[in-house]
Amino acid sequence: MKTLLITGGCGFIGANFVRLLLETRPNLKLVVLDKMTYAARRDNLPEQHPNLEVVIGDIANLELMRHLVTSQQVDTIVNFAAETHVDQSILNPFVFSQTNVIGTHVLLEVAREHKLRFHQISTDEVYGTIEGDHHSLESDILAPRSPYSASKAAGDQLVQSYFVTYGLQTTITRGSNNVGAYQFLEKVVPLFTTNAMLDLPLPVYGDGLQMRDYTHVSDHCTGILTVLERGTIGEIYNVGAGQEITNMAMLEVLLETVGKPRSLIRHVTDRAGHDRRYSVSVKKLEALGWKAQYQPKEAVAAAAKWYFEHPEYWQPVRESSSFQAYYNRQYAKRLEVKV
Ligand code: NAD
Ligand code: TYD
Repeated sequence: MKTLLITGGCGFIGANFVRLLLETRPNLKLVVLDKMTYAARRDNLPEQHPNLEVVIGDIANLELMRHLVTSQQVDTIVNFAAETHVDQSILNPFVFSQTNVIGTHVLLEVAREHKLRFHQISTDEVYGTIEGDHHSLESDILAPRSPYSASKAAGDQLVQSYFVTYGLQTTITRGSNNVGAYQFLEKVVPLFTTNAMLDLPLPVYGDGLQMRDYTHVSDHCTGILTVLERGTIGEIYNVGAGQEITNMAMLEVLLETVGKPRSLIRHVTDRAGHDRRYSVSVKKLEALGWKAQYQPKEAVAAAAKWYFEHPEYWQPVRESSSFQAYYNRQYAKRLEVKV
């Protein structure tokens, strides 16, 4: 039986990936290592499963990672663990370097010591804002512009350096904006869906004509699994729907799904350094036999429907003092001033 160490498995995408493996790969043992930051929830994963163990800890803790890999006889590390929100990286950038750069480096070092297979979960944001009608290719030069994307780009460069220098068995996937079940409410689709359900305004940064490839998390997870099982070692693969829509188009779908009016839309002060457009080519991954099942609008509708049907999941978060403190810090001033 193979053993996978899945870091960040109590977060949004990690939990969806663990659930996919538990359902479809019964011969794998999964060890989830998670620091349980504000974005994590233990109940994103099944409470008990014979093939699943959950350990609390920090990927940047070298001794802990060495111990875990040896004691659990890990073959493969899949690194989802990260600080992930651009707005948080603008408010509090240091922890992004600590986890996304130092943490990734620690995992690579342990993988090198034990000759493990290593897969890094990265993002299309490392390519920076995309001009014209270009679709980012895996070979494009990285041009990150936020503390979040810069820290992820640094992680990718470290992974590539361990492949080249030490022959570590690495792969990287660069996913675009994911939507779906179990996403933390700071991200735009769960934030706007739950705001709409509460009849609160939807704070649209700037003109709302920024473009994102909104991808259903299930498509991202099957893409990662495809690369783990059939990807070429040392290679990078983009994962996304392969087309992008504006934020205004995204929120129209979302409002229609939950039956709320456009009058909730508020254009507010833009995010600092806001990337105008992300767009990826997914041809390289498609050549491995993978295909996205959702177009961006379908993905947004499915995600909004999930939050609509699961208020028990998000209501306690909305009511928590930590979320309210973040919300006020991020939006109180913006919503006061109509742009
Ligand atoms: P998330 O914020 O929902 O979850 C991140 C998880 O990592 C949390 O459970 C958190 O507790 C854990 N974590 C954070 N720091 C840690 C540390 N030092 N040690 C151990 N665990 C730690 O994020 P997500 O949206 O699930 O993103 C997962 C990965 O996918 C990240 O690497 C992110 O960069 C990447 N990604 C996300 C998106 C997206 O749209 N959300 C798109 C492309 C790529
Ligand atoms: P987000 O979910 O934060 O993902 P990312 O910044 O990583 O792409 O935001 C998605 C898009 O939605 C992005 O263009 C910023 C925009 N947005 C808003 O307009 N208002 C908001 O309150 C948030 C959180 C995001």
